[in-house]
Amino acid sequence: MSSKTEADKIAPPPQKRPASLALRLAAAFAIAAFMLLLAAIAFPYFALAFNLDREDNESLTEKVEVIDALARKSPVNSAEFRDDLQQEAELQVSSPVVLRVLRADSHVLVESKGMSAILPTSVFPEPTKFGAGPDRFVDMTLPDGRAFRVLSQTVSSEGAPQDSLVVQVGLDRSAEARLLSNYRTGLIAELSLGLVACALGGYLIARRGLRPISRMAETVRHIGSATLNERIAPGGFPAELSALASAFNVMLQQLEDAFTRLSRFSADIAHELRTPINNVRGLVEVSLNSSQPEAERNRLLAASLDECQRLSRLIDNLLFLARAENPQTQINRQAVNVVDELKKMQEFYEAAGSEAGVTIQLDTAKAVEAQVDRLLLQRAIGNLIDNALAHTPDEGIVKLSAQRLDGRVRIEVADTGRGIPADHLPHIFERFHRVDPSRSKNTGGLGLGLAIVKSIAGLHGGTIEVQSEAGTGSRFTLVIPIDVEQRAKAS
Ligand SMILES: Nc1ncnc2c1ncn2[C@@H]1O[C@H](COP(=O)(O)OP(=O)(O)O)[C@@H](O)[C@H]1O
Ligand SMILES: [Mg+2]
Repeated sequence: MSSKTEADKIAPPPQKRPASLALRLAAAFAIAAFMLLLAAIAFPYFALAFNLDREDNESLTEKVEVIDALARKSPVNSAEFRDDLQQEAELQVSSPVVLRVLRADSHVLVESKGMSAILPTSVFPEPTKFGAGPDRFVDMTLPDGRAFRVLSQTVSSEGAPQDSLVVQVGLDRSAEARLLSNYRTGLIAELSLGLVACALGGYLIARRGLRPISRMAETVRHIGSATLNERIAPGGFPAELSALASAFNVMLQQLEDAFTRLSRFSADIAHELRTPINNVRGLVEVSLNSSQPEAERNRLLAASLDECQRLSRLIDNLLFLARAENPQTQINRQAVNVVDELKKMQEFYEAAGSEAGVTIQLDTAKAVEAQVDRLLLQRAIGNLIDNALAHTPDEGIVKLSAQRLDGRVRIEVADTGRGIPADHLPHIFERFHRVDPSRSKNTGGLGLGLAIVKSIAGLHGGTIEVQSEAGTGSRFTLVIPIDVEQRAKAS
């Protein structure tokens, strides 16, 4: 059975493959970086376009202003005005601005050289009055591809408002348009390259950042039931993964412990079953020998019955432990006066006690009520008294007592027996652990009594503790919450 097929068995049914984390991070990174790049490049572009636009408008209105000033300085029919106008029109030769001034009757007073060929009078919009209301700029493209912005306004002469003039100005914006277009082309190229670079960079960074995860997955993939002792080497991981690695290692440690315990337990069971089965087999084989007298055969049969009873006790106890370990197991809680139960146990064991020369005393008279499973409680106390009687020599005393202590009941079984050696104390509640296996075997001990007490304590949400000194005696303390429901409500 390879670990691969094991993993396949528990894998969830095939679903849509989730998106790769590296790809997602790369996409997020690329989008963020691209936005930043876009903002960084686009802002200066729009600022430039806006300023050029404003400057163009200003130079057009400025021109009209100049003509307006001239018209105010001298009458529009005077030679002086003509001269000024001519001068102004000639000034434009080397500039991208063209100028035309007409009288109200459409007679052209002056116009820049070649202007009639490119911007005849008719292409200009209806003039608006200079200095009144918003200026009406109009953009147009000539047949030769040149872009122009034009403005047409009326200015009135000083002292002769009836002699108003129409000023038509145009501005060649081709150079600007080229500049902006080049800028845009560069911008798009830069952005495309930037996008590719951001996506690629993001992907590489994310993959590099996520590499430890694949490294970790690689290690984890190799861990199987046979290699539970492997661990993820904690070094070399970023902080977040390092926490994951140590959490995983803790889990592995717990799994390994549980697994070891289980394997040892099943080995123990096999071992424990083998002896009585071998015994029964030997007894039956001998009794099958036909030369055996009747009485001897009966003795052998009785002995094998004993072994069979021991076996079925062993199996019953193991089953009980298995059930107690199941988290779904429910216990039958009821209100029980623990002291009454102790009294019954005392009476029940009285005969066995006097046979062993041991007195069983009950130390408590006051009732102690608790919500417990009566049969389980009897079983636990019975196991403790059994042990106390088995390990307490003649004239010893076994003391039973119960008391309430902040929401819990403490039940004690103390003896004046031989005690438990300190090196055995930590293991005393483990299954099949016996201090003296050979002696236990003679007394019929299965080594499961205390394990069962512990599981009964666990089923009640309580604990079992032991204090013991070799030669002086042992004291087992079972602590059980009095009323689990009330405690659960209170908390
Ligand atoms: N009261 C006690 N005094 C001395 N030793 C004890 C006492 N109770 C238990 N032990 C020791 O603990 C071991 C485990 O007890 P238990 O689980 O009841 O198994 P078993 O009684 O079947 O041997 C016993 O074998 C015994 O050595
Ligand atoms: Mg016992």
